[in-house]
Amino acid sequence: MTIATGNLDMDRNVKVTLIGAGLMGHALALVHAIGGHQVRIQDASSSQLDKSVELINSALGTMVDSGVVQSTKSHEIQARIMPVIALADAVDGAGLIIEAVVENADVKRQVYAEIDAAAPADVILASNTSHLNVFPLIPEARQKRSLISHWYTPPYVIDLVDLAPGPDTDPEVMRQMKALYDGMGKKPVLFDKFIPGYVANRLQAAMGLEITKLLDEGWVSAKSIDDSIKYGLALRMALMGVLMKADFTGLDMMRRGMANRTYVPPVPTPESPTLNKLLVEGKQGVMSGAGYFEYGGRSPEELFRNRDIGLLRLKAEVARIEDELPLGG
Ligand SMILES: NC(=O)c1ccc[n+]([C@@H]2O[C@H](COP(=O)([O-])OP(=O)(O)OC[C@H]3O[C@@H](n4cnc5c(N)ncnc54)[C@H](O)[C@@H]3O)[C@@H](O)[C@H]2O)c1
Repeated sequence: MTIATGNLDMDRNVKVTLIGAGLMGHALALVHAIGGHQVRIQDASSSQLDKSVELINSALGTMVDSGVVQSTKSHEIQARIMPVIALADAVDGAGLIIEAVVENADVKRQVYAEIDAAAPADVILASNTSHLNVFPLIPEARQKRSLISHWYTPPYVIDLVDLAPGPDTDPEVMRQMKALYDGMGKKPVLFDKFIPGYVANRLQAAMGLEITKLLDEGWVSAKSIDDSIKYGLALRMALMGVLMKADFTGLDMMRRGMANRTYVPPVPTPESPTLNKLLVEGKQGVMSGAGYFEYGGRSPEELFRNRDIGLLRLKAEVARIEDELPLGG
């Protein structure tokens, strides 16, 4: 067993190993190489490993063509990624191992056992699992330095990364991983514990239930649903999230809406203590200077103006992109 530095802060040039070179693995290899780190990528299938190199080069080409990555850096980014056949060679001396193999408990348990046998004692072990609680599958000795780092495809474009600890994860590991991804310009969101689906996937799942119902009961077409999302919901969400958007609407209005709502779920939603507390404190949203968020003393006029200009710019840009790069539908 080799020893790595074990401290990502001290090592700007982190030795990252990707186990699993599929849809997520190849893209995560690229993310970390663009971030300036040395990357080894391994897969149980050698043909998949070959394919991952093609996918990485193609995605890197897109990033260069879009101007996100300088063309002069392209070669050095490619050179930072090394495909490796044997897992033991891939994890030797690693500072950070990211497991991105199939979402199957038996396969992941086996992979963790192989990592345990060959990786440095102080390596950080991260899993990209979507729904599985991987912590019971990880050997006892690795628990303190294990966590979930869950990404969204394509992760070289989408900046969100969910960081969730296991029951025994050292808080210092969480801090170092957040610092690592902050340093790469990503948007890590820290959880107190593992929650299947995190926030984004849970909300997507909840939306999926209602979308299915609207479609299946014949209330509205698929295009109407996507138009409602693209030209209404998502545009505002992209700029403000959901809770800040509620502040712009006004929280009293939101509470009344919740009380009168009869469609999701098919009984009125129970009152929210968090929302009630804000209203008792006079925090009505932007109109009163605060709601779920504080607004730094800015006037509603200034905030609305900034919101409107931001939304218009976003809308114009989305329309331009749709024109230039049609996706069909
Ligand atoms: N696809 C997504 O959009 C997405 C998003 C976030 C998280 N995830 C999670 O990421 C993980 C990987 O998902 P994916 O979509 O990349 O899957 P995938 O099927 O595209 O890739 C999985 C890879 O694991 C390899 N593999 C299987 N057993 C192995 C072993 N013993 N050793 C080494 N490699 C092995 C397979 O050959 C395959 O290339 C899953 O846990 C999934 O839940 C996926």
